[in-house]
Amino acid sequence: MTSDAPLLVIDQGTTSTRAIIFGPDGDVRGVAQRELPQIYPAPGWVEHDAMRIWQDVQAVVRDALAAAGTAAAEVAGIGITNQRETTVVWDRATGQPIHNAIVWQDRRTASICEQLRQKGAEELVRQRTGLLLDPYFSATKIAWLLTHVPGAEDRAARGELAFGTIDSFLVWKLTGGRCHVTDATNAARTMLLDIRTGRWDPELQRLFAIPRGLMPTVVDSAGVVGHCLPELFGAAIPIAGLAGDQQAATFGQAAFAPGMVKSTYGTGCFALANTGEIPVRSENRLLTTIAWQLDGRRTYALEGAIFVAGAAVQWLRDGLGVIGQAAETEALARQVEDTGGVYLVPAFTGLGAPWWDPEARGAIVGMTRATGVPQIARATLEAVAYQTRDLMDAMIADGIPTPQALRVDGGLSVNDWVMQFMADILDLPVERPSVTETTALGAAFLAGLAQGVYRDLDDVAGRWQRERLFEPSMAPERREALCGGWDIAVRRVLTS
Ligand code: G3P
Repeated sequence: MTSDAPLLVIDQGTTSTRAIIFGPDGDVRGVAQRELPQIYPAPGWVEHDAMRIWQDVQAVVRDALAAAGTAAAEVAGIGITNQRETTVVWDRATGQPIHNAIVWQDRRTASICEQLRQKGAEELVRQRTGLLLDPYFSATKIAWLLTHVPGAEDRAARGELAFGTIDSFLVWKLTGGRCHVTDATNAARTMLLDIRTGRWDPELQRLFAIPRGLMPTVVDSAGVVGHCLPELFGAAIPIAGLAGDQQAATFGQAAFAPGMVKSTYGTGCFALANTGEIPVRSENRLLTTIAWQLDGRRTYALEGAIFVAGAAVQWLRDGLGVIGQAAETEALARQVEDTGGVYLVPAFTGLGAPWWDPEARGAIVGMTRATGVPQIARATLEAVAYQTRDLMDAMIADGIPTPQALRVDGGLSVNDWVMQFMADILDLPVERPSVTETTALGAAFLAGLAQGVYRDLDDVAGRWQRERLFEPSMAPERREALCGGWDIAVRRVLTS
């Protein structure tokens, strides 16, 4: 260990903003959190108030420092990790956003994507960015803002506006407008970056009509990009690490070797497989993305995104009202031997990878008169494992060697029953780390790497600790039968 100084992480997620003070070994010394209101101006539209995010960031940082009893001057560095793709355009002179942030889940630009697809643009997008032409990513959201906010196009052309994902906006605010940067992992989700070179792509900027002057400078995921204004927290703390939340989680899981895979279970589920220095093109509708960029060298990942994982458990609680707390699902699932042939396909907002069917909708299939809450609760949990299996199958079909284990984190990973079922369905050991705040931990690792808290990746990997290993124990015939039933259930909801 080269330093004992704590690290401060800002974890700006879709539904909440958190600050965490970590000790060098990943020990959590202080946490503060604020919920973030969701704005739904029209069906399929999702916005955030970016100024509210900024106010919450300031509040949670102060509260976390106070909770940890840490003075800002003691902090070795700030790591920022964030919901990806969510798009902010602001005025360079005032720092005021010109519109609410358009959130990654927002589908308002589906028709722009469709028009570009008709023009044959998808292959260019895939080749350069590793992404699919989908409203999920930032480019069409920026285009929408420029064409719908009065005067924005002209102001952008005059260089008066700035674009950024949430990391970029927060660095701008923290540094009082001195730094307009984004890290390579966030840049990789804009649909404007050539992920092979790590540079903005002029052809894509023309395709989406995005002026160059709008764009931030792309930087490493670890490295000091600037210092926060001393008047904010009492000291000019270096901002030393930036990464999108799923990439940060991969780093926090110390998945540094090619072939290692992590899966994070929050609202949705995001599985990333490290593919080393090679951007592997998916033939199975996974995304190719930058896992991190250190000293100008990029490590790549294949990513599979499932839109609904923990959100299905929330639906049992808030939509159906059959449970009082998410944790009750574990006891319910254990009450019955099986679901009695019931499958729940949680396609509430369409299906993500590997299906990418935005029109698909959820279904519960196979119900009989014997079906009750325990069977439906169990089917809801089982769906998380089946969907993870679909992602892993797609990864293996894309040439990733079968991993030795799957490293899991996020809220649902604390559910022992789901994790054992996961190991059984994947036929793969599932490893849960002792710190399940893996996203924030990854940002702390990145900032600590920049600041000499850690010597190198081996030093970081040495801090990762397993809390529990779930070994597969299901008979192969049973696994095949269960998975066969899932495949049939999914096909019943697909629209194409
Ligand atoms: O790509 C979207 C993802 O980064 C959002 O993550 O954890 O804020 O739902 P989360």
